[in-house]
Amino acid sequence: GAASASASASAEYYASVERPYSVSLGKVSATADERLDLRALPKSPPLDDDYPAAFATLDLDELAADVDAVLTTSQDWWPADFGHYGPLVLRMVWHCAGTYRVADGRGGAAAGLQRFAPVDSWPDNRNLDKARRLLWPVKRKYGRRVSWADLMVFAGNRALETMGFRTFGYAGGRVDVLEPDDVYWGPEQAWLADERHRGVRELDEPLAAEQLGLIYVNPEGPNTVPDQYASARDIRATFRRMGMNDEETVALIAGGHTFGKTHGVADPQRHLGPEPAAARLEDQGLGWRNTHRTGAGPDTITSGLDGTWTPTPTSWDNTYLEALFGYEWDVALSPAGLWQWVPRGGAGAGTVPDAHDPAKRHAPTFLTTDLALRYDPGYAPIARRFLEHPDQLADAFARAWFKLTHLDLGPRERYLGPLVPAETLPWQDPVPASPARARLDLGALKSRILGSGLSRTQLIAAAWASASTYRNSDGRGGSNGGRLRFEPQRSWAVNDPASLAQVLDVLTGLPGISVADAIVLGGCAALEQAAGIPVPFTPGRGDATEEDTDPEWFAPLEPIADGFRNYRGPRARRPSEHLLVDRASLLTLTAAEMTVLVGGLRVLGVVHDGSTGVLTATPGVLTNDFFVNLLGTAWAARTPETFEGGGWTASRVDLVFGADARLRAIAEYYAADDGAGPFVRDFVRAWDKVMNLGVLNLGR
Ligand code: HEM
Repeated sequence: GAASASASASAEYYASVERPYSVSLGKVSATADERLDLRALPKSPPLDDDYPAAFATLDLDELAADVDAVLTTSQDWWPADFGHYGPLVLRMVWHCAGTYRVADGRGGAAAGLQRFAPVDSWPDNRNLDKARRLLWPVKRKYGRRVSWADLMVFAGNRALETMGFRTFGYAGGRVDVLEPDDVYWGPEQAWLADERHRGVRELDEPLAAEQLGLIYVNPEGPNTVPDQYASARDIRATFRRMGMNDEETVALIAGGHTFGKTHGVADPQRHLGPEPAAARLEDQGLGWRNTHRTGAGPDTITSGLDGTWTPTPTSWDNTYLEALFGYEWDVALSPAGLWQWVPRGGAGAGTVPDAHDPAKRHAPTFLTTDLALRYDPGYAPIARRFLEHPDQLADAFARAWFKLTHLDLGPRERYLGPLVPAETLPWQDPVPASPARARLDLGALKSRILGSGLSRTQLIAAAWASASTYRNSDGRGGSNGGRLRFEPQRSWAVNDPASLAQVLDVLTGLPGISVADAIVLGGCAALEQAAGIPVPFTPGRGDATEEDTDPEWFAPLEPIADGFRNYRGPRARRPSEHLLVDRASLLTLTAAEMTVLVGGLRVLGVVHDGSTGVLTATPGVLTNDFFVNLLGTAWAARTPETFEGGGWTASRVDLVFGADARLRAIAEYYAADDGAGPFVRDFVRAWDKVMNLGVLNLGR
């Protein structure tokens, strides 16, 4: 058919077709100097001091009724398509959640990034400013009792419910931020530019979108070439980076595009004003002022693609898949000049309603990415099964939607509210409660571990390997669960598997204590010897099971680099010192904590290759030697990654503590003649902080 014929046409062909309008989207103006810079002010603490308590007073039924009223009441300033804002709001929530990336756990609905630059201004998020503004009256009514992030996800569920879909559940608990953390979204300086691929479309870590400003992939096809096979490859790569397998991907796209329409009656370049971050003051945070006719309703311009998928765009049913498989498709240009697909030979004419004029009817319009579900050999059988078994699509979509919108909220213990599903799901990384500790004799356990013949370095390295997997972005990892003893973690190169196996042999099966606690206790006992001062230890960690530790699901927790252990893996791209700061931020460390931990782990010998950066004559003793010797040595570069001086080898991560003025100031504090005491004290504090990250039941 023409669909597959078009797939064999070359990228050059599509690039050469003259389009009515330009498709270049210009420079990223939201990052320009005009943007108000609040970094001059001290960072604001969160506005809500006890959000869970405030949320507990919320009546979700009342909230649902208010949200439903918003969804079904068209406003003159932004008339609702088909009289229902459900599809617009659903797209808004998908674009919140779809920024999540498994590689570092950043993005996602819980982070609430969509209200802030740059995400609020991404071309893919056009007109979602309207969706959020429509919800403002509800937010205003409930105030502190519901965060924006919780309200948006809730509204997504209400959108689905009001359109006849039964959702799987809902949890609150997303605390709003005022200033989003800086997230690395890619190296490009222009919207939709692409400098993030190497080799055959290998996307750089940790990015999860194929182009800057897109949530995932280009709807026209990779770099605007309408090739559904190549598009499937991009969809698979990016949805995997969002934590979704093929079945979940098909369910999400088919489920989502059961609703709503695309908007592109005229050229976005010609008619849309600046995005929210660059808009006029009097526009009050709304962007993309549309000069085409009325600028709204039937004249709305969003993506530049234009059409409706199904005959029933505000009802849950199987018409999306029926149309996808029911027609043969030909590629066509939208009025704005973007590639989309229409049924061959005028089929389907009049089957689809107009969004604003009951007298008009249309043929369905699909995207290249939609066709990928029918033509890709991996997606096709799943999509066909869903076509034949709508109940399976409903179940898969309900579960995938719940996962998409809750994945980044962290452990189930953080879930709030009466709509939390009872079922535990594998992606929630379940950890059973820690064993009863009535007769826990920590002193005896410590002597037993220390008398086992393991070195201090081995024990400290194992505890660090366990705890330092934590990421505050999505709450995954950390010492709780003791998953270090399972694949894939026990075999990660950064963890020195042979040495780790010896440690785990000793720490598994100690009486009365979970392995997760024992791993940390071993590190604390060894550190106590190395430091010569008491090191706090608080039990409370549970042991996860091996069945609940799917190696594929835990693979993304592997550090591509860990400057704390002077490790740089083969997938690392950015400079090692940047990757160190990235890990430190996931561990919620301050610059001083990061500095003291690096200096301490070095002299304790906890480095990947056993020697780089161990700037001391007494490895295994907690001294400030690292800072003294780093600042006291003349260094020469041997490779971009290694430096030599004073008989030592050091890395970029080591040297940055002498080179960067801010880090040097901290290094000097510890290197000074009176710095040894504060160094040991601060190291133990920072160590304790890392050991306890993500352990919610500590001390229980
Ligand atoms: C609309 C692309 C996945 C839900 C759209 C539009 C595009 C698009 C271009 C039109 C925007 C406009 O012009 O108004 C894509 C691509 C996807 C994808 C490329 C992945 C490959 C999803 C998913 C969901 C979803 C996973 C939800 C689960 C929606 C909804 C609309 C929409 C509800 C209609 C919005 C409205 O009627 O205003 N999508 N989408 N999409 N999308 Fe997606």
